[in-house]
Amino acid sequence: MATAVGDRPTSFWLKLLQQRRERMHDERLDLSHPIAWESPEEQHAALKFFNAAYRAEESGLRQAHEIAGEVEPWDPELAAALRLYGDEEGWHRELLAEFLGWLGGGVRPMGPTTRSFYRLYARAKRHETIVLTNLMFETIGATTYRLALRTAKPHPSVRQMLTILARDESFHVPLNVHFLRRILARTDASARPRLRRLYHLLTASLMASAYASRRRAQRFDHIPFRTLARAYAEHLGKLFVHAEDLGFRPSRLLLATVGLRPDDLAVADDVTSVAAAERAADRAQVRVEAL
Ligand SMILES: [Fe+2]
Ligand SMILES: [Fe+2]
Repeated sequence: MATAVGDRPTSFWLKLLQQRRERMHDERLDLSHPIAWESPEEQHAALKFFNAAYRAEESGLRQAHEIAGEVEPWDPELAAALRLYGDEEGWHRELLAEFLGWLGGGVRPMGPTTRSFYRLYARAKRHETIVLTNLMFETIGATTYRLALRTAKPHPSVRQMLTILARDESFHVPLNVHFLRRILARTDASARPRLRRLYHLLTASLMASAYASRRRAQRFDHIPFRTLARAYAEHLGKLFVHAEDLGFRPSRLLLATVGLRPDDLAVADDVTSVAAAERAADRAQVRVEAL
């Protein structure tokens, strides 16, 4: 079985992030092949899909840099890792802005639901709340992009954009597990029940969000609701099954709604393992598997 999200010192993660930064800007999108849309609806759905990705990057960047400033006094190394992590999201945001222009749309204002959601999230002050929420976002991001790699419109530039996102968000999952561990080590034990409630609430909300996103993006990514909701439940569950010390356990009842049993989560996801993270120091060495 793959080594799951085991703990490593912050210096390990910082070194990987520094190595990744050196090569970050060497990678460019190849947008030389024009894209032909089957219908205006398909193009609209693609713009919705990548606008949602853009907003997630923007939020990840802001929250990581904000926490970094507050963490600095007690753990400068962790603060440095948070900054470099935020910078990776900033780089994704730049790529997505360029990509959205090429798709023929650009960055659009958020809809009312998305806006109120991000507003609520931006108001979160507790570090453990922010890092847990972010970790769960990274997980559903990596899951969605890996599924879309198999089913979305087959075009080399779409593939390249999805591969970059799937590859890096997969690396961000164990990285954020590390952030969560470091933050929880300083958090009072009395905060745990509140965090467990948040974990269950977020899992259910993210599964429900799969329904809303189908209305907007399915014409482009072709992922059925059931597949997406089940994949979210599976990967959000696996995340903590292999990090038992954190004390989050997926709800049997919720798993059952998508036909999963706790035993189905026993096999670790190698893409988000520490070993995979180590390989991800060099982005060129990562092979992204579609789900
Ligand atoms: Fe990202
Ligand atoms: Fe990320």
